[in-house]
This record gives sequence, C-alpha cells and structure tokens, in this order.
Amino acid sequence: MRLSVNVDHVATLRNARGGTFPSPVEAARLCMASGADGITMHLREDRRHIRDADVLAVRAEVPCRLNFEMAATEEMVAFAEKLRPEACCIVPEKRQELTTEGGLEVLNPAPFLAEAIARLTAAGVEVSLFVEPEPEAIRAAKRLGAQAVELHTGSYAEGAPERRADQLARITAAAQAAKAEGLLCHAGHGLSFETLPPVAALPEIAEVSIGHFLISASVFEGLPAVIARFKGIIAAARG
Ligand code: PXP
Repeated sequence: MRLSVNVDHVATLRNARGGTFPSPVEAARLCMASGADGITMHLREDRRHIRDADVLAVRAEVPCRLNFEMAATEEMVAFAEKLRPEACCIVPEKRQELTTEGGLEVLNPAPFLAEAIARLTAAGVEVSLFVEPEPEAIRAAKRLGAQAVELHTGSYAEGAPERRADQLARITAAAQAAKAEGLLCHAGHGLSFETLPPVAALPEIAEVSIGHFLISASVFEGLPAVIARFKGIIAAARG
C-alpha cells in the first residue's frame, strides 16, 4: 500500500503569514526523502492553500508520484493536461466548505465529468474519482471511464466510534466492489494513527492519501527537537 502525503496544510501555514515559509515544495521533498510513496496536492478554485506555482514546482523539482486533486472544471482539466501528473483525483468542490465534504456525484454526474475523465485519460493520467464507499458509486465510476476510485473514509474516520465497525464494513464492501469492477482502489479523508490500521489491512486498497492528521502530528512530534534547538541557540548566544 502506498502512502501519498497531502501537503495542502503546509501551504495553509505558509499563507497564514503571507510569506514563503513553510514551503509545501520543501515539505514534499522531505516527505519523499522520508519514505512517502507519493505527494497529493489539491489546487482549489479559490487557491486557499496550494497555489499553481506550488504544483508546478513539485512537478519540476520533486521526483514523486504526484496525485493532483481537482474539481472537474475546464480550468483544472486544462491545468492538469499541461501538468501531466501520474494521477488525478477528481473531487467535488464547494467554495464554502472547510474541506471536501462528500463523495463526487457519480449517479447523476455533471455533464462535464465524463469529458474531464476522457481528456485526462488521453493525457496519460490515471484518473480516480473520490466517491462514497457504496457499490453503486463504484459501478458508476467504472461506467464514467475512471481507472480508479478513492473511497471517502470520512464517515468511518470522523464518525461516532460506535458506528465505526459498520462504516468499516461499507469500506470493505466497496473495496471488494472496486476490485470486481477492475478498478484501482484508493482511500482517504480523516485517517489517523488510530483509524488507519483496519483500512491498511484491506488488500484491495492500493493507496491511502493522508493530510491533516499527518501534518498536525508532525507538529507535535517535531516540537521536542525544535525546542531543544532554540534552547541551544539561546544558550550559545549567551555564551
Ligand atoms: N482524499 C481527498 C480526495 C481529499 O479531499 C482529502 C482532503 O483534502 C484527503 C484525501 C485527505 O484528507 P485528510 O486531510 O483528512 O487526511
């Protein structure tokens, strides 16, 4: 199973101060050097975190399997056709949402979705659709011409703990349905140290995409080393 690290929230931190630090490009480099199997970046219509230049720089400077998350719009398809990432994950996008809130509408798809999939596929990109873990959504993704699905793990990972077993059963059945349809199967949203293990145990899932928890945990795991370094700087400056 590949771990694709979503570096969007490094850009969120950078944008909070309007400068260039911390750089999502440097984060992508460090993730790859640390054993990650790929990098995910979501270029949203409102550019709230990742910007065009970040994606272009990662493509140019960081050898990785790049998973470009995008809405099915003419602007993003044209961008991806030039970018040629290894993979695109098509997600629904609403301007007001804090993060991707649900799976893509694949049962009554927007008219442009099939064209977006066809154009990205023609550009040599592996196209995945971010869907609710439901067999009918998997079958619809197949009909639309996608090569992969990314199962939305939000209801499992962020829902009530007592509902977790049921939600995991949905994900398991959906992963098996994806395999039966001949689709590659990925998963993501809300995964953490605690919620990843049962998902990682599913053999049908080839990749997980993890962002918010991973970047947040890195803050905590990194704090001791950074505090020690600052204390060392202060001590050295005071002679
Ligand atoms: N997969 C998709 C399609 C997403 O939109 C997101 C959130 O940006 C993720 C995975 C990662 O979710 P999280 O940041 O909660 O790990």
